[in-house]
Amino acid sequence: MGSGIAQVAACSGMDVTLVDVEKSFIDRGMSTISGSLEKLVSKGRMTEEDATAAFAQVSTGIGLSHLSGCDLVIEAIPEVPELKFSTFSELDSICKPDAILASNTSSISISEIASHTNRPERVIGMHFMNPVPIMQLVEVINGEETSREITDSVISAAESMGKIPLSCRDSPGFISNRILCPMINEAILAFQEGVAQASAIDGIMKLGMNHPIGPLALADLIGLDTVLHIMNVLHSGLSDDKYLPAPLLVEMVGQGRLGRKSGSGFYDY
Ligand SMILES: NC(=O)c1ccc[n+]([C@@H]2O[C@H](COP(=O)([O-])OP(=O)(O)OC[C@H]3O[C@@H](n4cnc5c(N)ncnc54)[C@H](O)[C@@H]3O)[C@@H](O)[C@H]2O)c1
Repeated sequence: MGSGIAQVAACSGMDVTLVDVEKSFIDRGMSTISGSLEKLVSKGRMTEEDATAAFAQVSTGIGLSHLSGCDLVIEAIPEVPELKFSTFSELDSICKPDAILASNTSSISISEIASHTNRPERVIGMHFMNPVPIMQLVEVINGEETSREITDSVISAAESMGKIPLSCRDSPGFISNRILCPMINEAILAFQEGVAQASAIDGIMKLGMNHPIGPLALADLIGLDTVLHIMNVLHSGLSDDKYLPAPLLVEMVGQGRLGRKSGSGFYDY
């Protein structure tokens, strides 16, 4: 997600600094960006010169200290609450006092993340969709203390990245995952009960509902661990057993069958 966000920001002319914890992860991110830009050029959606210029807008570094001069920081580290909290606390001490700290979290409370900083009014959710260069939406999540000025700034930053921002308030799963993940979970329950094969479940939702991708293939794309994590957040945050994760989802995550990233999920890759 981080490389996708860096790419769309760079394509909009922003100076981008991409940081990670290891050089190999940065190299992987930069090669994803270069591959994606090449594809856009080959499809005629971007000129070679614009792609080269966008790639040159991205500088890299290991560690958060490289972000000290940034106006907007968009965090896209793993969906682990304690890691987000400690990272935001560190960002708060490193970044300029007027910098905006945004999180790409899929489900962790923005207000809770903000409470680990001394600038909760400048902390906000910027939830990009996967794959970032293709998907139009940025879900903008306002924490309890996020100021109107920061929401407006983030909306215009998202628009300048060519995205369509839509706002909501901080609530478990926000809007996108509160609606999407229970649908995926239901598809897993139907598969587990043997109601239909995976390809039939996905085909029915694609052909019948005009979804571009079926729910089980989408679970594989998102990562089954992430889907499980979000179902757990919905279950505990909304205190309703209708959000209990499907037993098969729990079992597959336990076996390390996480979807595309592990080579197997509901399909093999
Ligand atoms: N995968 C999706 O479909 C998707 C969609 C929307 C939002 N998200 C959210 O985006 C975030 C990232 O998800 P992902 O799938 O890209 O995860 P990922 O595990 O693929 O990438 C996370 C990156 O963060 C790096 N990282 C870890 N700790 C760090 C630190 N302290 N400082 C800097 N970098 C660090 C890792 O090395 C890794 O390169 C999560 O919050 C996730 O919920 C994911």
